[in-house]
Amino acid sequence: MCGIIGYVGKRSATPILIDGLRKLEYRGYDSSGIGVIANTSGNIVVRKTKGKIKDLVNLIDKQKLPQGQTGLSHTRWATHGAPNRANAHPHFDDSKKILIAHNGIIENYESLKENLKRQGHKFVSDTDTEVIAQLIGHFYKGDLFDAVKRAIRQLRGAFALGVICKDHPGTLIAARIGSPLIIGIGKDENYIASDVPAILNLTRKVIYLKDGEMAVLKDDKVDVFTFLGKKVAAKVRTVTFNVDAVKKGGFPHFMIKEIHEQPDVIEGMLKLRLKGSKVVLKEIGLKASELKGINHIFVVACGTAYHAGLAGKYFIEKLTRIPVSIDAASEFRYRDPVVGKKTLIIAVSQSGETADTLAAIREAKRKGAKVVSICNAVGSSLTRESDGVLYTHAGPEIGVASTKAYIAQIAMLFLLGLRLYDFKKALPKKEVSRIIREFKKIPGRHKEILAGKDKIAKVAKKNSHFGCFLFLGRNINYPSAMEGALKLKEISYIPAEGYPAGEMKHGPIALIDEYRAVVCVSPQSDIYEKMISNMQEIRARKGKIIAIATQGDAVIKKHANHVIYVPPTHNLLTPLLVALPLQLIAYYIAVQLGCDVDQPRNLAKSVTVE
Ligand code: M6R
Repeated sequence: MCGIIGYVGKRSATPILIDGLRKLEYRGYDSSGIGVIANTSGNIVVRKTKGKIKDLVNLIDKQKLPQGQTGLSHTRWATHGAPNRANAHPHFDDSKKILIAHNGIIENYESLKENLKRQGHKFVSDTDTEVIAQLIGHFYKGDLFDAVKRAIRQLRGAFALGVICKDHPGTLIAARIGSPLIIGIGKDENYIASDVPAILNLTRKVIYLKDGEMAVLKDDKVDVFTFLGKKVAAKVRTVTFNVDAVKKGGFPHFMIKEIHEQPDVIEGMLKLRLKGSKVVLKEIGLKASELKGINHIFVVACGTAYHAGLAGKYFIEKLTRIPVSIDAASEFRYRDPVVGKKTLIIAVSQSGETADTLAAIREAKRKGAKVVSICNAVGSSLTRESDGVLYTHAGPEIGVASTKAYIAQIAMLFLLGLRLYDFKKALPKKEVSRIIREFKKIPGRHKEILAGKDKIAKVAKKNSHFGCFLFLGRNINYPSAMEGALKLKEISYIPAEGYPAGEMKHGPIALIDEYRAVVCVSPQSDIYEKMISNMQEIRARKGKIIAIATQGDAVIKKHANHVIYVPPTHNLLTPLLVALPLQLIAYYIAVQLGCDVDQPRNLAKSVTVE
């Protein structure tokens, strides 16, 4: 939602904070700010601006910041108040002694604000965050830790906080509940950050602050406490992914780099999880007897992860005949779902911090279900609250539009389906062996698709003038169509709808004329003929068709204006292949239209508020 980075040490804070902010910009990019405690005056000096980090850098070039070794910075995705300078973080209290940066939402901020106003505090922004700064200032009588502790006990909602105070240069306080915050352990310096990439070039030693924990950082030590002030022994972990993972590596955008990483992601996953034809998912957190007893599965997820879950539903049901329901997490949490002890909840999330997904699993656990999460972000809230965690290990995904995390989520759901097949065998063994054999070929198939990306770019550019797109697919590629539409609308802002092709006649066909493009996801399968019929119906209404088909399919050329081929595979694995051309179509159209591919408007990488 927002990105925080804080520094305490012996070096100049500003360059370190700005560099960290750049790596957190994917989390929010409508305004940003930085504050340091000046060595000379002892005052906290702040620079803030609307816009991106480059605008903040331009500002600092014109209005230099003084030298200081304690500081805080923030990049924002607006929740309360417009994205302008006044609402940009960090925020002061009245006395300008205390400065805070916040990620999350304070639900009771209005009543707290009224109360503080009655006591004479003056507010200068529309944010919920300023309430926290004022509250800390209100309680502050010289002991910063005590004031933060007292203030956060009054807050309801989700927050990750960084706090500094002009009376305490060399001290940085952090606290979290519901929003991510990590502590980086350096040599003669320490850091706080919303995510690991911000500090990866500084240290690999991190503490994942848990919900309900706060920390006091000095240059030479870090102490972690509960919100009640009880000291806790925090575990220092070593981050294994390398610095290159958070660089563009010669690609013009993170999105295209991450699209190219997909063969390696799948290869790494299969190496780890497939031993011959045996699927190994040790961290699943459920005993064999529990897995055997599952009589219903719910997948809960949001956005792209929801589409991965939908593909998982088709796969798991086909292999096991265990009924799989799928809910957008935001619906699941409020609809009183029928969940019991033999229900398995699969929560799918790249970030592991999505507020709705977290709320959904809490609801499911309250009802007695077991939760297995499929997650990319190590140590995230979701992983801590689940009974079992299947990490996708796709590496950091920086592009706001999810690509490699999506492929990894589908692959992990398919592996889970294969593991559940051990207990409920609904397909002939021979066919499942073929699926596994074909699964192992997916990384090679990906490379073939990527080798043909120039042709996909040409098709995308030729069709980038269309003002509206429809994406159609059937069966296990209905989710692919949904995801193709989401990718396009997210990064190019072209209205795009994803539909099961069979539903076209029940409404969306009204959209079709010579000014609309329709992407038909039509690899070879037992419903291929049905897709061809849909394509004929589109042609009859002059719609322009881009078909995604299996290599060797000459027939489809008669029905489509453009055909993009993917290599053959087992029908149930086709979502793992067709995703790549769909991502590339969206990418090249967005580039052609001059859109900001990695940081599309209004979006943020992880949605930590409802
Ligand atoms: O971190 P999560 O996987 O839980 O995020 C869920 C969605 O917010 C996310 O997939 C979103 O739809 C992306 N922008 C898709 O590209």
